[in-house]
Amino acid sequence: MTRIYAIVNQKGGVGKTTSVINLSAYLALSGRRVLMVDVDPQANATSGIGLNKYELARSTYDLLLEEATVDEVLQCQQEYKVDVLPANPALAGAEVELVNAIGREYRLQKALEGINGRYDYVLIDCPPSLGLLTVNALTAASHGVIIPVQCEYLALEGLSQLTQTIELVQKYLNPQLFVRGLIMTMYDSRTNLSRQVVEEVRRYFPGKVFRTIVPRNIRLSEAPSYGQPISVYAPHSPGAIAYKVLTAELIRGDQS
Ligand SMILES: Nc1ncnc2c1ncn2[C@@H]1O[C@H](COP(=O)(O)OP(=O)(O)OP(=O)(O)O)[C@@H](O)[C@H]1O
Ligand SMILES: [Mg+2]
Repeated sequence: MTRIYAIVNQKGGVGKTTSVINLSAYLALSGRRVLMVDVDPQANATSGIGLNKYELARSTYDLLLEEATVDEVLQCQQEYKVDVLPANPALAGAEVELVNAIGREYRLQKALEGINGRYDYVLIDCPPSLGLLTVNALTAASHGVIIPVQCEYLALEGLSQLTQTIELVQKYLNPQLFVRGLIMTMYDSRTNLSRQVVEEVRRYFPGKVFRTIVPRNIRLSEAPSYGQPISVYAPHSPGAIAYKVLTAELIRGDQS
């Protein structure tokens, strides 16, 4: 069975892409067949896994506009054993070009039907908005959403709007949608604030917050500029250990 998760938060810079890249890498290291899907025009997941977003013949833009098939867009990142449906900046146009298109919310879901059974996990990296690209990801997410939340002031702000969007998509587009879990990111153990934010989010989403907390770790922010997941760039760093343990927690939860 293929588990498709959308990694979503309309707030920018909370750790969506970092989580997608590193969960993908550790899932692959755990022997899972992984597909990483980038539907963010910033294409940070694409470059962070070592692909050049400016040299792509095809991207998820072509997929959403039905101008290419999954196999035509697919890149195999052999080094990390992660397959990728990459994005490029052209994707920014898709949001506008699809406005009047038939089945515009279902484009990604339809495209992913073509990979049925080939992967254990599909992780979709979303842009920081609740526009059509994110809605496509939510509609395709057969096993729910994973929400990274940065351990900072006003972390909860925006989460009720996100929850509403998730409920609307569940009602009208994807009845299987639910919140699989929240990842607390960029935790700073030296501050009370980080601890308070985790407590607050746990209160607000009882039972939904992953036990593994991702610390603020400079290695995690350096790795993307080398096009490497943390498992390769700094495998013994606190950030690497956190994502490794988080991956195990995700797998365990999925099996039970
Ligand atoms: N745990 C962490 N420790 C330190 N830096 C981090 C951590 N997680 C992410 N970062 C850095 O913070 C920035 C934002 O992270 P990331 O790109 O993953 O967020 P995002 O939610 O995908 O952002 P966007 O909304 O723009 O797509 C990046 O520079 C990233 O390298
Ligand atoms: Mg991102």
